[in-house]
Amino acid sequence: MRFSQQFLEEIKNRLPLSNVVGRRVTWDKRKSQPGKGDFWACCPFHSEKTPSFHVDERRNRYKCFGCGESGDHFRFVCETEGLSFPEAVEQLAGEAGVAMPAPDPQAARKQEQRKSLGEVCELAADYYRKQFWGPIGDGALRYARSRGLSDATLREFQFGFAPAGRDNLKQHLLDKGIKEGQLVEAGLVIRPDDGRASYDRFRNRLMIPIHDERGRPVAFGGRTMDPKGQPKYLNSPETPIFHKGTMLFNSHRARQPAYEASQAVVVEGYMDAIAVWQAGLKGVVASLGTAFTEDQILRLWKFADEPVICFDGDAAGVSAAHRAVDRVLPVLTSGKSFQFVFLPDGQDPDDLLNEGGLPALEAELAKAQPLSEVVWERETTLARLDTPERRAALEKALEDLVDTIRDERVKKRYRMDLRVRLSNLFWENSRPQRGASGRAQSGWEPRGGKGARVQQRVDAPGTKNFGVERTLCAMAVKYPELFERHFERLGQVRFSSELHQAFMLALCTMAEDRGEASIAESFGALGEKFFQILQEVQGGAGEEGAVAKGVSKWSDLYDRAPVLQLDPPEDFVEQLFVLNMDLIELHQLESELEGEMALAETELSEAGWVRIQGLTQDLSRRKEECIREEQQLAERAQKMRARGKLSVAHG
Ligand code: UTP
Ligand code: MN
Repeated sequence: MRFSQQFLEEIKNRLPLSNVVGRRVTWDKRKSQPGKGDFWACCPFHSEKTPSFHVDERRNRYKCFGCGESGDHFRFVCETEGLSFPEAVEQLAGEAGVAMPAPDPQAARKQEQRKSLGEVCELAADYYRKQFWGPIGDGALRYARSRGLSDATLREFQFGFAPAGRDNLKQHLLDKGIKEGQLVEAGLVIRPDDGRASYDRFRNRLMIPIHDERGRPVAFGGRTMDPKGQPKYLNSPETPIFHKGTMLFNSHRARQPAYEASQAVVVEGYMDAIAVWQAGLKGVVASLGTAFTEDQILRLWKFADEPVICFDGDAAGVSAAHRAVDRVLPVLTSGKSFQFVFLPDGQDPDDLLNEGGLPALEAELAKAQPLSEVVWERETTLARLDTPERRAALEKALEDLVDTIRDERVKKRYRMDLRVRLSNLFWENSRPQRGASGRAQSGWEPRGGKGARVQQRVDAPGTKNFGVERTLCAMAVKYPELFERHFERLGQVRFSSELHQAFMLALCTMAEDRGEASIAESFGALGEKFFQILQEVQGGAGEEGAVAKGVSKWSDLYDRAPVLQLDPPEDFVEQLFVLNMDLIELHQLESELEGEMALAETELSEAGWVRIQGLTQDLSRRKEECIREEQQLAERAQKMRARGKLSVAHG
């Protein structure tokens, strides 16, 4: 119903905003000036110690200068009590003593019909309940108790029993003056097409009423107690007052507790919801055996910002969750999302609680995955990424999914997140093999034992790129002609180790100032703090400009890049040299991207977004290049090793 502005204003004018808000906050006595309609308190929407939440009673508005929340009477009640707008209006109108406007005749007729169908359901629920607690319901009561439900729970959920005969409920309600047509319309009685007498839909079943948002029974689920009975659950059909796509089982009980705990849990079955509720987690609802709808999603966001969808870990549960993902993506907005829990071994929440109690369920809930993670896993788990075409297909699938997000800001976030993940995935996937340390192991190094161990030892200090940087420094000394050829670019490389940076700077400065001396001759002039680096590269007898005389081999550099021991051709060494520069620059780009992303956490500007996009694209291109280079070098190294073995065997 649309409310007139005048009607809404009247409610606001009769109910001081400070009264409505005052139920949820404590006014700051010193800062507030009630005489001027000026009130201050700590904000009920975010946590703070000094009051920045302001109520301006003359303008009937509140605003928090901390978190930006603002609104009027109705908004405040919607936000703090999880009500819809019409519900908030109705509640406040009642408090203000303002009569609700008379609905137009057509709406009134509909409402009348709804009311009467609602009454029919209510009468049916009463009837089922009496049977359940009476002698005839003995078996049903025992069955319900055997499922671990307490009598208090059975009463709270108004469990009932539909007796076995053909038309017990029908006769009972006809006697009460209800017309047969209404029984049919309420979904309680079925009228066969062939003209035979109508009969009860639910016979010999445990009955669980399904309530609407206001707690009125509008439909039923009936469970057979016969282990072979089919179907296991029989539900009311769609009726004028029961729409499966918009309702959630237990929502009228769950709404307030979920809102207060900022946690809502969605389970698949209503027996599960009842068990979870009984275990103490009150903010729980169940879908009604249908796929999630946008209505239900928006409804759930009134309960909590990130409701947890808790589905069975079997194929059906996973596929239901995946369908939910497709429904959620388009309607995502800032701060609103869903989390997902997949229960182990095809267990449902009811089984889990029966075995391990609430702690078992809470342990599972604590493992909830964010939506973005579920999207990612769904798309990549089975994807084969061994060809460019297949990678492109994955990229396209992800882009198409992200394009379904309507909220621009969230869309950007997702695109960014997935780009970075994709680039990492392709990178991981294309690198030859992963070492024991979990780090990708480079292909040109000897496989197995020694290589891996040495790699760990020499790579350890500080930064992740340490080994690559040290190798480049050492190579710059060992191969002066490479140093000279790549002099310009080396001057631009940003090392993450300060020592390496200083070393390269010293090398470059020296190279510029050396006058007539050859590069190699000048190394002796390098300062003492580079002793360690030089020691790693300096050979002993015969090497020009040796600082650390007596060191007789290139031990450490060879440990880092064993392929150099094979005395590879010049162009191979150069390619390795360049690859090391590329890898360091790649690392540098990654740090820049991380910085931009951290910045974007607090504020996402258009310029920042453009930079992030540029960086991620550049990064994935450069990664592809590095992978290609690594592969080429690895292949060549392998051939060299094979030839080496051959000559040893023949020699
Ligand atoms: P499940 O088959 O997982 O049932 O159906 P459950 O919740 O574990 O029930 P118990 O523990 O065996 O009693 C989950 C939901 O799917 C719908 C119902 O809404 C049920 O709560 N359903 C299931 C049906 O509508 N009809 C059926 O025959 C089965
Ligand atoms: Mn179950």
